[in-house]
Amino acid sequence: MQEDLFKRLVSHCKEYGFIYPSSEVYDGLNGVYDYGPYGVELKNNIKEYWWRAMVQMHENITGIDSAIFMHPLIWKASGHVDAFNDPLIDNKDSKKRFRADVLIENEIDKMMGKADKEVEKAAKRFGDSFDEAMFRSTNPRVLEYTQKAEAVEKRLANAMKANDMADLKAIIEELGIADPDSGSRNWTEVRQFNLMFSTQMSNIAGEEGKLYLRPETAQGIFVNFLNVQKTTRQKIPFGIAQIGKAFRNEIVARQFIFRMREFEQMEMQFFVRPGTEMEWYNTWKERRMAWHRAVTPEEKLKFKDHDNLAHYANAAVDIQFDFPFGFKELEGIHSRTDFDLSSHSELSGKKMQFFDPELNEHYTPFVVETSVGCDRMFLAMLSNALVEETVPDAQGEDSSRTVLRLAPALAPVKCAVLPLLKNKEELVGKAREIFDKLKFHFLCQYDEKDAVGRRYRRQDAIGTPYCITIDFETLENDTVTIRERDSMKQERIPVGDVARIVSENTDMRLLLEQIA
Ligand code: GAP
Repeated sequence: MQEDLFKRLVSHCKEYGFIYPSSEVYDGLNGVYDYGPYGVELKNNIKEYWWRAMVQMHENITGIDSAIFMHPLIWKASGHVDAFNDPLIDNKDSKKRFRADVLIENEIDKMMGKADKEVEKAAKRFGDSFDEAMFRSTNPRVLEYTQKAEAVEKRLANAMKANDMADLKAIIEELGIADPDSGSRNWTEVRQFNLMFSTQMSNIAGEEGKLYLRPETAQGIFVNFLNVQKTTRQKIPFGIAQIGKAFRNEIVARQFIFRMREFEQMEMQFFVRPGTEMEWYNTWKERRMAWHRAVTPEEKLKFKDHDNLAHYANAAVDIQFDFPFGFKELEGIHSRTDFDLSSHSELSGKKMQFFDPELNEHYTPFVVETSVGCDRMFLAMLSNALVEETVPDAQGEDSSRTVLRLAPALAPVKCAVLPLLKNKEELVGKAREIFDKLKFHFLCQYDEKDAVGRRYRRQDAIGTPYCITIDFETLENDTVTIRERDSMKQERIPVGDVARIVSENTDMRLLLEQIA
């Protein structure tokens, strides 16, 4: 694990106003975070990138914004009341709670890690003549670790599928898994734990008034299927997109904003003719990967098929990102069959079907879903972007800088306006005049405190793609120096060109054109 990068990232987020722990003055609330001034801008830009790529770029996708509170029967129909569980295990000595499947997965990772270490050692020993594939398929120790890991992985998948909590406990005992912090192996039985938060409606007493905070935004789309289809007169295939908060009572919320109890999802349900769902599933796999690749190097992304399908899916794949703690799920793409629309039809008594004029028949559409966590995308963007580097300072000496190499279209602030000196009225007045014009185009920041070099560093640390400096020459010939964040190159340009240059290079259109 790149622990160092991860620690730096968390403290960078706090120090520079991207993310704060929620309720910090009361010592925080586990698994809940607040976005600060730059965090909210970056998050809004990520959401805009997703919304425009899905809704603006597809004539047959429209958006909605459904309520968080929904009729409680929705969660019965969707299967969340009965099946949205994680296997929970308590350690009797440390009193800590764990997900039994995660404890086992971590053990599998350790076995694979041992195999990788053997491979690394051999690669060093044999140098250029090393044949990794051959070594992996013949070395007895590597084979032992990999085969054991694969066998445990298979047994875990079967136990999860069969809801076999006793076997999960047996695996933990057989592998001798201990509480990672205390080392204790004194475990309770494994039991199912429902992840939905519940609350109570004021005007209805008892179970009848029990509401759930939605654990996914998707159900708000399903129950509006008929409304949206009628009002937009869309024909199948068509999609409905939504961005919104979701809530899960995660047993262990950890790894910063990777697993939270309150988070945001960007989901799209694509309604298709039954029998065409695998074709659309593959199309959406490609389209979503292209969206990620426009802002992330290819080697940091990969597909991972699900071993263990959710109750509603007949195919599912994750797009994984190489987070500082390894490759983990960033987005899920699921073929959800007609499960949700059929269940809602049955429980509500309202037929949720589509009349297909080409086939001259009614049917319940099948659904392909794409679902990406906004907070996970935020974490991925920061992991990609945060760089410490050595660069020459104004005197040509080595100095270190922290820079966020965010895609310019996602950067919180697009341009900083810096008067060379703050005590020269003419410079400050001119800088203010330029700032007041630029703010109509994009988010700018005016900064006059400290030496210009320090101000550049502050802007680098929040990922601002351009800084412009107003100096005495500006007063003479209406030109400024413009400095580009990554190359640190400076150029003199007319004041009148600033808005155009910054707009052209930070426009979201550049990303959208890459994925088209
Ligand atoms: N509607 C399908 C669905 O909710 P999911 O795989 O459970 O599928 C989709 O969630 C995405 O939501 C995940 O890929 C992840 O990015 C994000 N997500 C899920 N649980 C999360 C959590 N506790 N904290 C942050 N993001 C989460």
